[in-house]
Amino acid sequence: MLPGPGEGSRLVLGGVALLLVLVSFLLHRLEHAEIPELPRMAENKEKLREDLRKENKSCFILGASGETGKELLKELVKNRIFSKVTIVGRRKLTFDDEAYKDVVQEVVDFDRLDEYSSAFQGHDVGFCCLGTTKAKSGEAGFIRVDHDYVLKSAQLAKAGGCTHFNLQSSKGADKSSSFLYLRVKGEVEAEIEHLDFDRYTIFRPAFLMCDRAENRLGERIFQTVLTPITYLFPTVLSVPVTTVVKAMVNNAALRNDKKVEILENKAIHALGRA
Ligand SMILES: NC(=O)c1ccc[n+]([C@@H]2O[C@H](COP(=O)([O-])OP(=O)(O)OC[C@H]3O[C@@H](n4cnc5c(N)ncnc54)[C@H](OP(=O)(O)O)[C@@H]3O)[C@@H](O)[C@H]2O)c1
Repeated sequence: MLPGPGEGSRLVLGGVALLLVLVSFLLHRLEHAEIPELPRMAENKEKLREDLRKENKSCFILGASGETGKELLKELVKNRIFSKVTIVGRRKLTFDDEAYKDVVQEVVDFDRLDEYSSAFQGHDVGFCCLGTTKAKSGEAGFIRVDHDYVLKSAQLAKAGGCTHFNLQSSKGADKSSSFLYLRVKGEVEAEIEHLDFDRYTIFRPAFLMCDRAENRLGERIFQTVLTPITYLFPTVLSVPVTTVVKAMVNNAALRNDKKVEILENKAIHALGRA
């Protein structure tokens, strides 16, 4: 017997309510899941930073004009934990703030990076926040930036003496994924691991919450939808860019004898809040 019209909508509403309960249950489980092997931020964050400062190390940032990169640069300029900060990019950036006056800029042609190897020489630590999207650059363009440019930069950095390479990858990165984005992220993660840096940190953030300068309609809609969910389950589906860069800086100051570290979204939240 077929349900009547009123009964039909009650069934749909019941189905939606059940789905919402199941999704909430799943998000709750994920929110409260244990963080495997979270790097411990020692009791005194300032002491760790001061120790790093005393080592007079230098670093470079790739993608310093992007959302994560510019926030990271701001944090490093503010905290001065590196004696020299170099940004490597395809165009020269201008800064009004005096605090940026010592930032060194290297403008390179990413299609001919071998000719710019000197830009990658002499940095102890490297942060790679480079990336584009398939929507913006097409499939080939996405692979060129997120794989080829990233890998080549890592190779030149390694040859130039970099000992700690930090890669901003993505939640779900997996070299055997059937999704192009996740596969490329997974492939480049694995290929950089083969370069054998003394220390290699992979950050796998979920959706980046930020006030993006570039107009990406899809991301803006997604961010609006995510905002109330983020309020209830802050560490599952997203992470503020400011938290990601704090996690990068805190992690760089940590003494860690692990050669390869993969920081998933939850660990990024924990380290970023430390
Ligand atoms: N959006 C998310 O929710 C999300 C989530 C997880 C992981 N991620 C990953 O996190 C990383 C950083 O993301 P983001 O949103 O901070 O980056 P973003 O704002 O898109 O900035 C990307 C950076 O890469 C540079 N770049 C892009 N195309 C280039 C090209 N053809 N040649 C040279 N440089 C190029 C940009 O330089 P210009 O300013 O010169 O264009 C900019 O500095 C990316 O790898 C991204 O895939 C993003």
